Amino acid sequence: MALCFFEHLLVSFLVLVVVCAKVGHGTIVGCVERERQALLRFKHGLVDDYGILSSWDSRDCCQWRGVQCSNQSGHIILLHLPAPWSEYTYHYQSLKGEISPSLLELEHLTHLDLSCNDFERRPIPPFLASLTKIQYLNLSDANFIGRLPSQLGNLSNLLSLDLSYNYFEWGPIPPFLASLTKIQHLNLSYANFIGRLPSQLENLCCASESFDANNINSRTQR
Ligand SMILES: *[C@@H]1O[C@H](CO)[C@@H](O)[C@H](O)[C@H]1NC(C)=O
Ligand SMILES: *[C@@H]1O[C@H](CO)[C@@H](O)[C@H](O)[C@H]1NC(C)=O
Ligand SMILES: *[C@@H]1O[C@H](CO)[C@@H](O)[C@H](O)[C@H]1NC(C)=O
Ligand SMILES: *[C@@H]1O[C@H](CO)[C@@H](O)[C@H](O)[C@H]1NC(C)=O
Repeated sequence: MALCFFEHLLVSFLVLVVVCAKVGHGTIVGCVERERQALLRFKHGLVDDYGILSSWDSRDCCQWRGVQCSNQSGHIILLHLPAPWSEYTYHYQSLKGEISPSLLELEHLTHLDLSCNDFERRPIPPFLASLTKIQYLNLSDANFIGRLPSQLGNLSNLLSLDLSYNYFEWGPIPPFLASLTKIQHLNLSYANFIGRLPSQLENLCCASESFDANNINSRTQR
């Protein structure tokens, strides 16, 4: 009996040592509670008719659909929620509603994809420009209207920006996009922009095939 107890103790101790070692190496890092709360508020601002966010209630937000945490720090680095296409209805299974400013709590976010969701003819919220670590931003086909917030020019780490297929106010390509000095992919197709790219951008990225220049003002031709 006593031997058995000691064996048990030993096994427990070994398990503990292994767990500690893993934590020490930063491979087991759970979700940061403050960020979890931020995601829950983000979800609260949305109408989720298709249960896309149904996994968003467990303890570990790093396991939630579309969420990826850094396995070093545990911080959320990626939010990838393009609306899935349904073969049955021939529609996107879109989230609807508005983007909560609680997203700003995700200070380590480098990737945000909300494409093909339905923001119901709202403008792009200027606060998104405060997500300064963002490298990849995809707001394609998400029913945005109005003017691009000039603050987006502050997203100086952006490598890829896709704003295609939205209903922005007709007009020239906003000059502040030229401050996105690291940009490699830019898509402004079918988004009501007319005219030429700022020449800085042409030099930076977009004279290459990465930029669909022919489509830039082709909404009229659709
Ligand atoms: C973190 O996770 C990614 C993807 O799962 C993996 O490729 C990478 O090696 C991991 N890094 C560490 C330090 O565990
Ligand atoms: C943005 O999202 C759309 C739809 O999900 C996708 O087709 C497109 O490739 C994405 N753009 C970039 C630059 O990844
Ligand atoms: C960028 O941020 C700075 C400081 O927050 C602000 O003064 C400036 O107006 C912003 N630029 C744009 C284009 O929004
Ligand atoms: C916009 O252009 C980029 C770069 O060419 C491309 O990767 C992306 O898929 C395009 N987006 C859409 C919605 O077609």
